[in-house]
Amino acid sequence: MLKVVVMVSGGGTNLQAILDAADSGEITNTEIVGVISNKQDAYALKRAENAGIPAICVSPKDYAERVQFDEALLAAVDSFSPDLVVLAGFLVILPELLIQNYKNRMINIHPSLIPSFCGKGYYGLKVHKEVLSRGCKVTGATVHFVDEGCDSGPILLQKAVEVKYGDTPEILQRRVMEEAEWQILPQAIDRIANGKVLFENGYVFVK
Ligand code: GAR
Repeated sequence: MLKVVVMVSGGGTNLQAILDAADSGEITNTEIVGVISNKQDAYALKRAENAGIPAICVSPKDYAERVQFDEALLAAVDSFSPDLVVLAGFLVILPELLIQNYKNRMINIHPSLIPSFCGKGYYGLKVHKEVLSRGCKVTGATVHFVDEGCDSGPILLQKAVEVKYGDTPEILQRRVMEEAEWQILPQAIDRIANGKVLFENGYVFVK
């Protein structure tokens, strides 16, 4: 059983997609052991509670120094002894030690086709605004491993989504979630849980 911790900051629709996929058997060999939020009022915490999953909040507001928050965050993740950490809309700069300790064991969902519209400052609605401003006709979502850079780790799965006439950032965000994010994030977890993600010759392959 792959023990998974999910880290969240907001509504938690990606968390919900993971929980639903685990329930329906779309994800196998996986146990969601905990949810960590940096925001006390994140609806994602309620979703975890509804599913009977231990959920905790580690907020930077509760610590005088950033280094103390970083330590608490790392301790919170370690407390679940996870095999995999899933960043599902976790909008916090990660402590370096967390990245190092969970190298090749931490994945992130990003709402664009990386390497477009990613990196520092590209998160949430901002991504979709930029896609529309540029006049892109196709966008999508990406699941990638987390490394020391920003959205720069090896890519596991991507799915393209059409941009349509009359889209607003909000409409496009919803379509990218429905047609891409909520599908490829559970799929990526299932592939990892079932040994289908392979590192060969410096490349990452997903069977
Ligand atoms: C998702 O669209 C996710 O791709 C994005 O935050 C949203 C969280 O929604 N993540 C990023 O932008 C990371 N750079 P959710 O809380 O409803 O799952």
